[in-house]
Amino acid sequence: MKIFKYIRIAALLAIAAVADTSARAQELDLTPMPNSISMKQGSVKIPATITYKTNFKKADRADLEAYLPDYALRMVPAKKKAFVNIILSDKGGKAEAYRLDISPDGVNIYAADAAGAFYALQTLAQLARDKSELPLLTIDDGPRFEYRGVHIDVSRHFFGTDYIKKQLDLLSTYKINRMHWHLTDAAGWRLEIPGYPRLTDFAAWRSESEFSDWHENGGKYCESTTEGAYGGYYTEADVKEVLEYARLRHITVIPEIELPGHSAEVLAAYPELSCYGEPYKSGEVCIGNEATFKFFEDVLDEVIRLFPSHYIHIGGDEADRSHWKSCAKCQQRIKDEGLTDEAQLQSYMIERIERHVNSRGRDIIGWDEILDGGLAPNATVMSWRGEEGGIKAAQMGHDAIMTPGAYCYLDQYQDDPETQPKAFGSTITVFHCYSYDPAPASLDPEIHKHIIGVQGNNWAEYISTYSHGEYMMYPRMIALCEVGWTQPENKNEDSFKRRINGEIRHIKSLGYNPFTLSTQVQTAQTPDYGRKCIILELTSEKDPIDIRYTLDGSEPDASSPLYSTPFEVTDSIKLKARLFNGDTPAGPVKLLRTDYHKGIGKKITYAGRGYYRHSEAYKGGGDTGLLDGKRGGHSYQDGLWQGFCPNNLDATIDLGENTAVTRIMANFMQMKTPQIYLPDNVEIYISTDGSDFKLLHTDYAKPEDVAKDAVFADFGWTGAPVEARYIRFVANQASRPNAAFLFTDEIVIQ
Ligand code: ACM
Repeated sequence: MKIFKYIRIAALLAIAAVADTSARAQELDLTPMPNSISMKQGSVKIPATITYKTNFKKADRADLEAYLPDYALRMVPAKKKAFVNIILSDKGGKAEAYRLDISPDGVNIYAADAAGAFYALQTLAQLARDKSELPLLTIDDGPRFEYRGVHIDVSRHFFGTDYIKKQLDLLSTYKINRMHWHLTDAAGWRLEIPGYPRLTDFAAWRSESEFSDWHENGGKYCESTTEGAYGGYYTEADVKEVLEYARLRHITVIPEIELPGHSAEVLAAYPELSCYGEPYKSGEVCIGNEATFKFFEDVLDEVIRLFPSHYIHIGGDEADRSHWKSCAKCQQRIKDEGLTDEAQLQSYMIERIERHVNSRGRDIIGWDEILDGGLAPNATVMSWRGEEGGIKAAQMGHDAIMTPGAYCYLDQYQDDPETQPKAFGSTITVFHCYSYDPAPASLDPEIHKHIIGVQGNNWAEYISTYSHGEYMMYPRMIALCEVGWTQPENKNEDSFKRRINGEIRHIKSLGYNPFTLSTQVQTAQTPDYGRKCIILELTSEKDPIDIRYTLDGSEPDASSPLYSTPFEVTDSIKLKARLFNGDTPAGPVKLLRTDYHKGIGKKITYAGRGYYRHSEAYKGGGDTGLLDGKRGGHSYQDGLWQGFCPNNLDATIDLGENTAVTRIMANFMQMKTPQIYLPDNVEIYISTDGSDFKLLHTDYAKPEDVAKDAVFADFGWTGAPVEARYIRFVANQASRPNAAFLFTDEIVIQ
């Protein structure tokens, strides 16, 4: 009996020791968090001159020496004993993995390949940042996914090699190993191709610097020699410069050549490849025309000559197949090849292009639309419309890279849209990126095996400057680096919040322009229906920070109460909250009205078709969603906002009995890019018997709100008490564009 007791105590001690180690590890300033850290007591002083030795052979040694001048720590070759020993060894584990051993004698790095040693050096530099000593520890680390990518769009706006290199230099320190280079699209062709001079004399240039102006003016190109021509392209020398820079940082550059859609610029340069034989009629190439294949085969041969990447991305997304329906040549191709429709025609092209790329010893990647008409035999799928495409490809035995719009699209807002430069309509915070799991445990192991990685996509429609490009990329791309590297059990949101605040300060000091996180107090409202209350939690993206608040309507100042625990709201509170750095306000005052209101849990009936049911994300909680006490945030895709399209919102709420009511309101959003508009007006009717309804109030949209690209606005009524059992809430959107969406959340009744 005694022995069992002893074992139990020993086991408890062991658990306590592990827990202590992992908690201490999460306190290290390491991003992405390594996968195994064994902390020891003590530290070793970092010498004034860091010496190194390596057993790297010729090529690896030369590459390391070429990189070291740009490495965060200055290291010089050791004459005798070195402080840092870089050892290629099977102790380093698998590809890209490493062991970093810090002892009182110095640092030993073991890696199975040069990439692993490179990543160990990045971890070492983070440990040494702003420090005079290194903690004694052993890190055994390696990536979760083999593909950890960033996508840079250089078509919508052209970004020079200096910008690209600057991003790769930083991202490699966070262990990114792929750059997907979006070199061609309608807004400009960006790669010099021998034999096709019109691509770069003409299709790489436009008169408008802003993408939206260009688009609105008909999407035309101009000669490179035109005065004020805006655009550019990469020469062979430019490509080589980027490739070499990337190679020294263990990044493979994957070029993308878009086909058969997103190709308006090709058709402007070579109109004979269009179904119409004319420019500016479509962005889809003619698949019935043999010259189209000659063109892309020539282009891809040049791309394959320039880029050593095993994978060549051939696009494949968002083709408008209707052009092929009315094209005699495309229809003839469908007939000749025994195809059933235009989706199969598209797959015919992808498969034929794939055969060509395969014949040169390479493989293709395509956006998930390449699944639609039958998947090319050896293709890897990049899943962007969601994760379904990637999962389907994996089920078919193909590899997949996850880059779903809801987590990985860096062209979305990253905070309250009213505080941000114009972006696409949804909101993806750095913590939302961080929460992404590309291959959750719930998926079949056979599928897991084929999900090879994750990628963040920086599309550039709204990005015309380098500093704005960085602003959209950071810090979210750093969150995705941890998603790609760190095993889910080693991720920790609290630790990441602290660390990402540190990384933001760090990369600013290096001359990058990250978004420095929201200055607003963040809120989470969780209803407790049993206790009839709402738990109101206040948080901040910043860390460390103080939150101060008032409940009496006054402005919070440095003497206001410090927030520490969530509020339980049984009726209504009007809370004002603000972030503080010590005594200094660190953001705007946020007015938060929270109500456990009279409508919660009551029955709601929709007239007409009701809410939009074709997307799970727009159902906003379904039939009970507008009366559930939960409030939508800054993203219309957060599952709390309820969408209506094409009809208006017309809903009647039954409170169950006649009730005195003093306030009826709902919040609406406007995001013009994804076609979400405020209502023109809201009409509120009340009734005591369910048949005789009287108009209580009509509330109209404010012209200044209607003019905004992105805004949130309350519509409703407040007044002296009225008796009502039934409330009919109507939001009209008649004057908004066709197919506009209406999004609302929570009809609050008090
Ligand atoms: C895409 O966003 N069209 C891949």
